[in-house]
Amino acid sequence: MKRIDASGLSQRECIAVNIYPTADEACLQAADAITDLIRARAAEGKSAVLGLATGSTPVRLYRELIRRHREEGLSFANVISFNLDEYYGLSGDHPESYRRFMQDQLFDHVDILAENTHVPDGLAQRDDVLASCQAYEEAIREAGGIDIQILGIGRTGHIGFNEPGSGPQSRTRLVTLDSLTRRDAARDFLGEENVPRHAITMGVGTILEARKVFLLAWGEAKAKVIAESVEGTPTESIPASLLQAHEDCVFCVDEPASSHLTRVRYPWVVGPVEWTAEMTRKAVVWLAQKSGKALLKLTDEDYTENSMADLLTEKGPAYDLNIDIFNQTQHTITGWPGGKPDADDSHRPERASPFPKRSLVLSPEPTDDVFCLGGTLHRLANQGHEVTVAYQTSGNLAVPDTDVRRAIELIIELGEKLHDVAELKFARSVLEQLEQKGAFGEDTSDLRTMKGLIRRGEARSSGRMLGIDPEALRFLDLPFYENGRYRRFKAGDEDVERLAKLLDEVQPHQIFATGQGHDPLSVPAICFDVLVEALKRCEGASWLADCWIWLYRGPGAEWEMHEMDMAVPLSPDELEFKIKGIYQHQTQRSQSPSVAKQDVHDSWALARQLNSATAQVYDTLGLAEYEAIEGFKHYSL
Ligand code: F6R
Repeated sequence: MKRIDASGLSQRECIAVNIYPTADEACLQAADAITDLIRARAAEGKSAVLGLATGSTPVRLYRELIRRHREEGLSFANVISFNLDEYYGLSGDHPESYRRFMQDQLFDHVDILAENTHVPDGLAQRDDVLASCQAYEEAIREAGGIDIQILGIGRTGHIGFNEPGSGPQSRTRLVTLDSLTRRDAARDFLGEENVPRHAITMGVGTILEARKVFLLAWGEAKAKVIAESVEGTPTESIPASLLQAHEDCVFCVDEPASSHLTRVRYPWVVGPVEWTAEMTRKAVVWLAQKSGKALLKLTDEDYTENSMADLLTEKGPAYDLNIDIFNQTQHTITGWPGGKPDADDSHRPERASPFPKRSLVLSPEPTDDVFCLGGTLHRLANQGHEVTVAYQTSGNLAVPDTDVRRAIELIIELGEKLHDVAELKFARSVLEQLEQKGAFGEDTSDLRTMKGLIRRGEARSSGRMLGIDPEALRFLDLPFYENGRYRRFKAGDEDVERLAKLLDEVQPHQIFATGQGHDPLSVPAICFDVLVEALKRCEGASWLADCWIWLYRGPGAEWEMHEMDMAVPLSPDELEFKIKGIYQHQTQRSQSPSVAKQDVHDSWALARQLNSATAQVYDTLGLAEYEAIEGFKHYSL
């Protein structure tokens, strides 16, 4: 097995991994290779054969290829394409079929010939599936084999729909989707029950035969599986790890997706590092966690035996290092997330004045605020700050049909009781729209409005639990979300303008936001980009010079210890308030698919688990023992 060892830092990696600051930059390598291939083949009068993927990951690559077609004359007339997979049972015009996706995201915007585009047939009869799969393989062979294969990766480690258990010899076939994969797709299908159970996919063996492979991955959620695929022993349990056997395979990832690679996560283990303050904190906390010791109990031997002898030489002995990092960690803890008035704030994460502060909490969807910082919100309100919570999107896509039906029936009953003709007419028409759309159909705008209103109601009652006045809640209903579907959102000027207007109106002293490091096409990431752009529009405003930004990690995850600049402890009672607050979001009973964990199904149970786990980490590091903790990272503009 080859080992990449160019810098000495990547010696554990058995596949070449190129890390880029952003997903857009990471796409360029694959876009260049495709462009060169197409042009070289065109010059010879030959075809270029591309293996293509769907999902959020390749969308940016396809946007770049479309741009090159429009602006640089890149012609796809000599391209033959084969897609990796298709949901079984979906016709090509179903909005979530991969055929439809490819038409929308690439084929309809370039000059590729329709007959040259191939996507497995999701409607092949059961008896014909085998023959249809064999014909697909045959068509690839006839085209001369795949020149460049583009892949994404699922959190199960799947490539195409080759779920765990798929071997290196597997070929195009009908497969059963993993439950985690189905949960990840639940949002696209507006409910897990609508996600097909089966798919047709090229096999791992088919993929390994491509002459060149690019696997793309964005966002923190992919970090773990990327590291396992690249650094672990190749195994059918993580099909992407089987790419280690490929001679010309490159993983192009953004920084968040690289964050679990040894060279990024524990760089001192694989080579010399510069011991900056941040690196030192990261390494010492890691050492304590690894050795299961409190920070103040680490010895010189612990440092030397764990590749940190140079740190000891530079900043030791252990005693000094331990105290330094202990103090830094201690100073992250505060029960005053808005700052403690009239107190010495030289070692506190937030400044004491001004007091009270105008605190603006940005919540991409209506549950994110309470899920991630419900306890902190409760404290801010109780401590007298002027809290505004702004829900960036309506979150209406995440409301199951059953909940909207219940609400409509209630309105109908009320309308009948009050003889309210207008109300009855509206409610009956919405009920009809619901019935007409069927399980897979798209919601009409009335249905989306109703679903959005349901989430508003839940947000209000959740806010009440936390002591937030309903008047302090703002519903921005950003247009990118209202006009889109998951994985295809695109923010624009109006989104930025709406948020900039709110910022200007509230003039916050502190903003709590999330989305940095998430998959760039996810709702939190788009909301974060909108915030960054909105802040740019406010440049020069006097309030901005005195505004601090605190990032929360986002649902289902917490910052790593060394990343946390503010840790807000929750008492058992406060944790209960928070859990009750989450509980008000009845339409979101099951946790969001994007954060699904196999063992925890309810969002409140997951929040409890996460916040308690963070408190336990502080405890094992030898700091005070709390019931639960919510963490924040300082963000500088
Ligand atoms: C899609 C495919 C899948 C996806 C993977 C990641 O054709 O084959 O393997 O690449 O599920 O999906 P996203 O990109 O949506 O995170």
